[in-house]
Amino acid sequence: MKDRVVSGYRPSGRLHLGHYHGNLKNMIALQETNECFFFVADWHALTTVYRDTSKLGEYTREMVLDWLAAGLDPERCTIYRQSDIASIPELVLYFGMIMTLGELERCPTYKEQLRELDARVVNTYGFLGYPVLMAADILIVDAELVPVGEDQLPHLELTREIARSFNSLYGPTFPEPQPILSKAPRIPGTDARKMSKSYDNAILLEDEPEVIRKKVRRMITDPARRRREDKGHPEVCTVFSIYDVYMPDEIERVAAECRAADIGCTDCKDRLSGLIASDLAPFRERRVELAAKHGLVEDVLRRGAEAAGPIAAGTLERAREAIGIGAL
Ligand code: TRP
Ligand code: SF4
Repeated sequence: MKDRVVSGYRPSGRLHLGHYHGNLKNMIALQETNECFFFVADWHALTTVYRDTSKLGEYTREMVLDWLAAGLDPERCTIYRQSDIASIPELVLYFGMIMTLGELERCPTYKEQLRELDARVVNTYGFLGYPVLMAADILIVDAELVPVGEDQLPHLELTREIARSFNSLYGPTFPEPQPILSKAPRIPGTDARKMSKSYDNAILLEDEPEVIRKKVRRMITDPARRRREDKGHPEVCTVFSIYDVYMPDEIERVAAECRAADIGCTDCKDRLSGLIASDLAPFRERRVELAAKHGLVEDVLRRGAEAAGPIAAGTLERAREAIGIGAL
């Protein structure tokens, strides 16, 4: 039996290079070797954006189209929407009974988000329970492997915690899933912070070459290199850290050119933009083709729900039996 794989993305619209190199490439590779479940985490989106839900549908469509154009193949993996799987919330209910408040309140992502987002908005039961919902997403399909970004590791730790508690209370029922992290170095945003749509520093997969060029031109380089003839320090340059992903074999040459001031930052940036743009060209072409196919996303999500729904229902039944719910 191949290990089951699951991963979900909150519907945030168009995907960017951070998604692609950080996680999506792993997902695309895993569909060739494993039984994969990939879903749109629309309930998770509600934990922070419950006040304005007007974009949920559009963002879901855009994201699924980006997934398909990037190479997720509904013939090789199951693509669905979290809210189409009615068994998940019942499992959340059981997990919520055994998860202590202290463990949820100590979760580093929870503490960080309370600081970063408007605390009055996210100070909800649902938001505190984010990792409980995530554990149910993962365990409802008995997944053993979870490709995620590094920021999700605390949630996976809690998922294992929940699986262990459940198993020790009610008998062996769930596996303890392990994360799969990307081996590629993390792609910084154009302002050197983490790439994220909400920071407005992202290079989107759909960006045209000219847009990519403009965005890369704005990037911060070695601050000590003010004039063309100043020698550079590639190790502090954001542009250089992205080179690592696109030219790993020639990275030493780029570093040497920079250190010797053989290349100026503008030329260095434009060369990188060219590499990114040509790497994304096939994506853009497929994305346009797929967007023109009427009913495609509806179809993919319907088939995904038909495949994942019964599996989830089976797991839920096993959990109910283990607990003794519904017994006479
Ligand atoms: N929390 C994840 C994120 O923000 C999304 C997510 C929800 C997820 N459920 C999941 C990822 C289950 C992996 C497995 O990126
Ligand atoms: Fe960065 Fe390239 Fe400029 Fe060096 S030459 S500082 S690597 S942009």
